[in-house]
Amino acid sequence: MEIKKVGVVGAGTMGNGIAQVFAAAGYDVLMRDIKDEFVARGLSTIKKNLERMVSRNKMAAEAKDAALANIHTTTELAPFADRDLIVEAALEEVSLKLQLFRELDGIAKPEAILATNTSSISVTKIAAATKRPGQVIGMHFFNPVPVMQLVEIVRALQTKEEVVATIEATGKKIGKTPHVVKDSFGFVVNRVLIPMVNEAVNCLYEGLTQPEDIDAVMKLGANHPMGPLALADLIGLDIILNVMETLYQGFEDPKYRPSPLLKQMVDAGYLGRKTGRGFFDYQ
Ligand code: CAA
Repeated sequence: MEIKKVGVVGAGTMGNGIAQVFAAAGYDVLMRDIKDEFVARGLSTIKKNLERMVSRNKMAAEAKDAALANIHTTTELAPFADRDLIVEAALEEVSLKLQLFRELDGIAKPEAILATNTSSISVTKIAAATKRPGQVIGMHFFNPVPVMQLVEIVRALQTKEEVVATIEATGKKIGKTPHVVKDSFGFVVNRVLIPMVNEAVNCLYEGLTQPEDIDAVMKLGANHPMGPLALADLIGLDIILNVMETLYQGFEDPKYRPSPLLKQMVDAGYLGRKTGRGFFDYQ
């Protein structure tokens, strides 16, 4: 099946990044969020990102205009009826995602593929909420989406082989490097990466040193492009906690216990860049 028309559910950090990469690759993109202001914010982020690419000679001005012209927006789900592929990037809440997939299943054409960008929820469970479980798959992008090379393609227990092949080919067409993994708690990247971030939070909790030093030693000693606490702020502390809880409950293994400090930060609403405060200040 050839994918031409793409729907993106969610215009937040991940949703607008996903819409941008599809639009820049020539796909007709419909981006949806629940409020006009969320859609407008997502669109303005895309414009800024594309303009920055033009100013750095990474994209021609005409290509930027073409990409922007490929993006349409809505606050409804009904217009997704003509989409070949719908990528969901809404909030990380199980009940919300299951409800969304039930609705999308009712709206999307029978041959459409429904993908989720979830970072922690079972793709198998999401697939089971639909009447087309073989056409549900994980398309896990990384933040910042326009920069990060990987798309982790998550094969649910039910996903059909031809759907995996279509999504792999689509991942390549948008300039990413896809890798296919089986559905499991945290998939592969988050299962390895997020416990490392959680351990950095524990080092801070135990008072081993200051946030700046924790990040500096990991940058200098492990060659990471950014320190784990700055990375937590970029990803969002609520997402980090979500992934840790998924690993902890899923594997029933204490090695995945979320740091008490991480829980406190989330309780305080210090979620990182998106709230202006996390382990560092962004005001
Ligand atoms: N959107 C678009 N482009 C961005 C961007 C953003 N949010 N942030 C940075 N960039 C671009 C910059 O414009 C810059 O482009 P040029 O080369 O054209 O100048 C390029 O990326 C490099 O940026 P900077 O020079 O400002 O800074 P940097 O070299 O430190 O790179 C970084 C920034 C790409 C974020 C880098 O620090 C990095 O790779 N960090 C690790 C990110 C990471 O691990 N992400 C995965 C998180 S896990 C996840 O997302 C999955 C999940 O489910 C939780």
